[in-house]
Amino acid sequence: MTNTSLIDLSGKCALVTGGSRGIGAAVCRQLALAGANIMVGYRTRKTDAEKVVQDCRSFGVKAACFAADVSTDADSRALVDATVTELGALDIFLGNAGIWPPRGVSLSEMSDDQWHRTVRENIDSIFFTTRAAIRAMRDGGSVVLISSTAGQRGEAFHSDYAASKGAVISFTKSLAVELGPRDINVNGVAPGWVDTEMVSDAIADEGLERIVASIPIGRIASADDIAGPVVFLCSSMARHITGEILNVNGGSVLCG
Ligand SMILES: NC(=O)c1ccc[n+]([C@@H]2O[C@H](COP(=O)([O-])OP(=O)(O)OC[C@H]3O[C@@H](n4cnc5c(N)ncnc54)[C@H](OP(=O)(O)O)[C@@H]3O)[C@@H](O)[C@H]2O)c1
Repeated sequence: MTNTSLIDLSGKCALVTGGSRGIGAAVCRQLALAGANIMVGYRTRKTDAEKVVQDCRSFGVKAACFAADVSTDADSRALVDATVTELGALDIFLGNAGIWPPRGVSLSEMSDDQWHRTVRENIDSIFFTTRAAIRAMRDGGSVVLISSTAGQRGEAFHSDYAASKGAVISFTKSLAVELGPRDINVNGVAPGWVDTEMVSDAIADEGLERIVASIPIGRIASADDIAGPVVFLCSSMARHITGEILNVNGGSVLCG
């Protein structure tokens, strides 16, 4: 991450779910660098979230964090209320919090519990948080929702995850049309492998070389590689982009 941003989001107020680490934390820092005030949503990692808040404040913006389980409606509403109370408004919403059950399992072996948990964490959460966010957002804002290559091409032995991320894509496109009259653009970002805690065990198990061989650009993304395109989609440069799913996966979605 550089110390300057080409993008100016001064005065904008942003809520990032899953902001305590990984992709969400990188987005918080890049949005703050661009001048946006930040609410860091997290579930359990308070110390990590507070560190992200400090990093954001070092760029001279307002920042706060709030614990909320976004797979519930009540917590999602509370998170949005806290954002408006702390920051004064809401212009940018990033729906990023999610899970990837690391152990692959065939559909015939998949338990009801696993299926329902993944759907609850990855798409019920997007429904609850996005609904609460758009009720509070000022017109002219931006919504960005995090999908995955798995949501486009499927992922064998992770059908629960792939289905939940595919749902994020159709949800994004539906909302883009609904919110057009409010000049709120709604886009998705679809990462492939990103070097975060979510997949660190899987990278170790599968082997870095094998994974890298499946990515035309020849490396796994960093969280900052995903954050930059998210910030772009929230910027004045992207006002006429809506309903788009931006692939940020080094071309891996083209290869399998
Ligand atoms: N990493 C990849 O390779 C990859 C690839 C494609 C797509 N994605 C997607 O990108 C997004 C972020 O992934 P990541 O790799 O940054 O994940 P990560 O490092 O595991 O971080 C997950 C974040 O989500 C939060 N979270 C999870 N469940 C939550 C809940 N129910 N309520 C509130 N917060 C919750 C966590 O909060 P705590 O810290 O408090 O636990 C944490 O901030 C996910 O939607 C993921 O599916 C990731």
